[in-house]
Amino acid sequence: MKILFIGDVVGKVGRRMLKDYLGTYVEKYGIDFVIANGENVTHGKGLIQRHYQELLDAGVDCITLGNHYNSKNEINRYIDSADRLVRPLNLLNGFRGDGSVVYDLDGVSIRVTNLLGSAFMEEQVNNPYYAMLDLFEEEPANIHIVDFHAEATGEKQSLGYVLDGKVSALLGTHTHVQTNDCRILPNGTAYISDVGMTGFNDGVLGFEKESVIRKNFYGEMVKFTPPEEGVGIFSAVVLDINEFDGKTRQIFPILFKEEKK
Ligand code: FE2
Repeated sequence: MKILFIGDVVGKVGRRMLKDYLGTYVEKYGIDFVIANGENVTHGKGLIQRHYQELLDAGVDCITLGNHYNSKNEINRYIDSADRLVRPLNLLNGFRGDGSVVYDLDGVSIRVTNLLGSAFMEEQVNNPYYAMLDLFEEEPANIHIVDFHAEATGEKQSLGYVLDGKVSALLGTHTHVQTNDCRILPNGTAYISDVGMTGFNDGVLGFEKESVIRKNFYGEMVKFTPPEEGVGIFSAVVLDINEFDGKTRQIFPILFKEEKK
């Protein structure tokens, strides 16, 4: 089973990158199932229903979220009917929706789980490890992909080793910068500290660099804005998973930058 996991899709350029390039990668690598982190899709924070549908129309099968799960109020109105959307599992606030969803693909069950980290994050969350233990009480799926939306690489690596052999892949998101450490852990779990960002390339984390610099260095209260157009990057990993034992045979990264237009 070939799965493509796309790192944080940011704003309009991110959405365009999916429309322009996702089909090419799906064909090139024979992808069966596409997961994308969509917490930054709507103007950099959150996900409105129209953009949820736009990602599905572009070929995404499942969308995960992160700390911006509730940045657009509208999500409260549609999340219950959005069966392709997975919000963080370990929220303590009882938010609606599901944090772990099982999909059926021609008889193969694929569980997708979204987890928030606890280090340097502001959200009130349950310990990610204990949240996972609860999940293991349920009937195992053939394949289990975990999007670990977290800041600290140490926390990500620790959870990767703790879950090694228990899930098919633990993939880091949130920092928007792809790390050069994807590998298969000793017991067959694929790991990368961060898949990276899909969106505007010539900025800071997909946002206009001027606004971020003004806040970081001059303390100005400015909104971070993702540009409407510009050269984009596409960050993802491809997983080749044995659906009979749930272990991953191969993981490799995609980090594609468009030519200047
Ligand atoms: Fe995030």
